[in-house]
Amino acid sequence: MSTSFQPSIEARKDIDFGLDADFPKYWNGNDPFKTRIMDALQLSFPDGERYFISSVRAFRDRITDPQLQRDVKEFTQQEAQHGIAHTKFNALLEAQGMPMARILTELKEYIKKDQTKYSDEFNLALTAAYEHFTALLAETFFARKEVTADIHPKMRALLAWHAIEEMEHRSVAFNVMKNVAKVGYFKRCAAMIIATRHTTSVMFNYADELLKTDGYSWLQRRMMVLKNLNWMYGRKGILSSMLPKLLMYFRPNFHPEDIPVIHNYGEWVKVYDSTGNPHDACAALLAAAY
Ligand SMILES: [Fe+2]
Ligand SMILES: [Fe+2]
Repeated sequence: MSTSFQPSIEARKDIDFGLDADFPKYWNGNDPFKTRIMDALQLSFPDGERYFISSVRAFRDRITDPQLQRDVKEFTQQEAQHGIAHTKFNALLEAQGMPMARILTELKEYIKKDQTKYSDEFNLALTAAYEHFTALLAETFFARKEVTADIHPKMRALLAWHAIEEMEHRSVAFNVMKNVAKVGYFKRCAAMIIATRHTTSVMFNYADELLKTDGYSWLQRRMMVLKNLNWMYGRKGILSSMLPKLLMYFRPNFHPEDIPVIHNYGEWVKVYDSTGNPHDACAALLAAAY
């Protein structure tokens, strides 16, 4: 697939990933830390995605480019579907006894504070920054087979679908920010610093809280962090491998399409379009991974 290939944005609706009450608690290699750190990130998706939609929609009436208008519509529908799927997953976390009501209230309050404290332009800049993160998920998790080898197939299929669509709409919030809201370089960089800090604290603080609720002691939780340093920050760590492309955001002329879609993107789309089955599509994506 050519590196200049730009996928169209397509919202795929009502996908059932079969995440039911039988789904294992520690779905990532039966490892509490590797699972809970990803649970902590995922639990913020429904409220986060509602925030992304409203940040972009604040500028909807000022968008005159018909292509960008269409892109915003598809972006909104994609994020709404992601929110529905991850809300179902949050219900599973609740059923496991996780303090979801309190955590989600905290997240909502944090978002509300940003919406009150910052201008519409800066909220959109924060959204574009968060979208840069999510766009890198596909590459982080699905370019290489080994990264998701231990992840439960149902969760793998959910993450693959989400990652594919995040990659498809990776430029939408950025284009609205740059071309419509006219947010400049320093503001978008400041937003990225805040978004990075917030994403990191959500991941680590809530993972710690979920593990504490699971019954792990303070010492056990610290030992888990130490044990997984290489998984996160090693040469092929999930966070360290994301870093170079994350930092590209600070280039003055950066545009999300400077980062091509992953080489196996087309395999997922081809199989999903012909079968409507996200599990088969995920298998095809991984079969073509390195
Ligand atoms: Fe999303
Ligand atoms: Fe997104």
